[in-house]
Amino acid sequence: MSEDFKTLVSKMTLEEKAALVTGASNWTTTPVERLGIPEMVVSDGPHGVRRIEDVTAIAQKSLPATCFPTASCTASTWNVDLIKQMGEALAEECIALNVDVLLGPGVNMKRSPLGGRNFEYFSEDPFLAGEMAVNFINGVQSKGVGTSLKHYAANNQEFQRFCISSEVDERTLREIYLAAFEKAVKETQPYTVMCSYNKVNGDYASENYHLLTEILKNEWGFEGLVVSDWGAVHDRVKALKAGLDWEMPGPQAQRTQKVIDAVRSGELDESVLDESVRRILRIVFKARQTPKNGKFDVDAHHELAHQIATEGMVLLKNNGLLPLKGHEHIAIIGRSAEAAHFQGGGSSHINPTKVAVPFNEVKAQAGAAEITFAEGYPTDNSFSQAMIDKSVSLAKSADVALLYIALPGFKESEGYDRTDLDLTDQQVALIKAVSAIQPNTVVVLNNGAPVVMNDWIDGVAAVLEGWMMGQAGGVSIADVLFGRVNPSGKLAETFPAKLADTPAVINWPGGAGKVYYGEGLFIGYRYYDAKKMPVLFPFGYGLSYTTFAYSNTKVSKKSFKDTDGVTVSVDVTNTGKMAGKEIVQLYVHDQKSKLVRPEKELKGFAKVELKPGETKTVSIKLDFRSFAYYHPSYNQWITEDGEFDLLIAASSADIREKLTVTLESTVNLPCLLNKESTIREWMEDPIGNKVFSPFFAQVESLSRKAFGAEEGSDDGMGADIMMMFGDMPLASVLLFMQSALPKSADDMVADLLKQVHG
Ligand code: BGC
Repeated sequence: MSEDFKTLVSKMTLEEKAALVTGASNWTTTPVERLGIPEMVVSDGPHGVRRIEDVTAIAQKSLPATCFPTASCTASTWNVDLIKQMGEALAEECIALNVDVLLGPGVNMKRSPLGGRNFEYFSEDPFLAGEMAVNFINGVQSKGVGTSLKHYAANNQEFQRFCISSEVDERTLREIYLAAFEKAVKETQPYTVMCSYNKVNGDYASENYHLLTEILKNEWGFEGLVVSDWGAVHDRVKALKAGLDWEMPGPQAQRTQKVIDAVRSGELDESVLDESVRRILRIVFKARQTPKNGKFDVDAHHELAHQIATEGMVLLKNNGLLPLKGHEHIAIIGRSAEAAHFQGGGSSHINPTKVAVPFNEVKAQAGAAEITFAEGYPTDNSFSQAMIDKSVSLAKSADVALLYIALPGFKESEGYDRTDLDLTDQQVALIKAVSAIQPNTVVVLNNGAPVVMNDWIDGVAAVLEGWMMGQAGGVSIADVLFGRVNPSGKLAETFPAKLADTPAVINWPGGAGKVYYGEGLFIGYRYYDAKKMPVLFPFGYGLSYTTFAYSNTKVSKKSFKDTDGVTVSVDVTNTGKMAGKEIVQLYVHDQKSKLVRPEKELKGFAKVELKPGETKTVSIKLDFRSFAYYHPSYNQWITEDGEFDLLIAASSADIREKLTVTLESTVNLPCLLNKESTIREWMEDPIGNKVFSPFFAQVESLSRKAFGAEEGSDDGMGADIMMMFGDMPLASVLLFMQSALPKSADDMVADLLKQVHG
């Protein structure tokens, strides 16, 4: 145990320590007045402060706070500075509302677009999610307020989220599901990490020694405390042993007693409890150093929420109608124009300080245009032809129809997954009917995750993805529609053409207690790339009112050592007439690797603002991890010598420039040859090759004899002997030629292995 707080821990009684490792209420730690140990207050998160005044309540209306856009939207900004500012603002609100730790951000991967909680998560790509999380956390923690990186780990669905076991192989875990956590932990040291409800490969995340202790604490060096998701602990003693420091919510008298009993009976080593207590004390005292209470700047934060929402909106389609200008009559259709749909349901639900009404914002920016309104669709899932008819007649008499379509809460929320990617039947019928009579139809979507559009997209002039845009998003929509702002968001997740195309579809949502992550590494664009499958809108895609050209691509070194990395630079020019921002993406493609790898992976990006005609040079650094993959046999990240393509792109499907570089690996890998190693593995292993190659010629000629094939000719079995044997264990091949060998096949392999392993 490290020195800090050791003395304080030693002054605590067993009872006090056992009480501290469980909460005192829904939102607080257990104080110990006798020793001057204060209580610490936590609150949801992630995109606003859900401070419930009465800490014994769990779902009461919270104090007013700014509702920022949810993570789908913030990630679509690809603007790390803005995310950091959002973090700072969140911290100011935490301080004002007496909150020590904000429960966010959430960095789980969007394995399937059906995940009910996807709106709270950033991306299908771990690099992008990791960058967002790092900046979010740095923003919050720069003001002395803590964060809780959640939900660790492999919590990618709502179906049976309290108990299902996510069955994920180690490589997929490391490269896809843990990578954003790893980046955030290593680069920012969040005050807390929240374990998820589900099991991972059979063990509850809260009792998972591999995840909590081996990986998070030992390998990544996490110094903060691990808190359980609310109600995620089943066996308190087992959880402590696994590395779960703080159980929430509390109090849980029985569990506390179990900890006491376990220490007394010797079942739990007191040092394990002490370590959790030390971690909690460290964070409690750290968090309480920041003085709390006061006020936050409601207007300034609303304005920041507005700015983020504007940059997060993604213009998906535009036949040239947008930005709107000079129209005399605008029909606004859709309930969500009046009742803004700007956040999702569940624990992240914020009580906003104020809300921009989309309808009013259009009015404010539409100049002298006449504005008319129809609701378009009901609040529930019922169907009303009358509402459609009214909308159509309104749209007919207008120059433009703006359709505000929000995916209703009964289709998308924490607590349940979506069952399809569709809008409601009424919404689809409404879009079709209106666009049939009004060619100038713009669809404005408010949803937390992709919807399918094949039924109607061809008929509409433009589609703006407005996401769950936060309390100020209504202004952002008008800003983009009227061109006050040039849209610059790009998708942080693929919009598939249909549900049946999605990566996890045949392994979703699991059953009989397990969900198999059968698609492995291949989620999101990694899957669509591998399948060469067309999508509705690719990862990284988004339109602008201007155009950008890429030129003069350079790399700092053509050949480099993995540990040195390289820097890629590219000139980006605004070739259109309007100022705008472009998001440059850098993907890495490994030309050849021993294990299968995705076609390409995002490893860097930059957002750059350009006036018309202006050119700026964008530089992006690549490091060891940009080229590495996790090798489950070596249990480590490795690189391999060879050529890599660096793809500079405007989206995952729009590669603008390609550079090829040569990497020299500095990774020294142990020799893993064993009794089961194949002939090819012997040949490819540097040490194995030295020992085995003199023997190889002998094996080859013996095998031809054993199989009745003439030297240099085809063999008696009509197949190339070495092609056939290459992937067989050496021991098995030798077995077939036993009669020609001086000793048993097993002994021969044992001899070779002795030479290899010294
Ligand atoms: C959610 C967490 C949340 C916690 C406290 C849980 O149900 O999964 O994200 O932080 O409740 O509200």
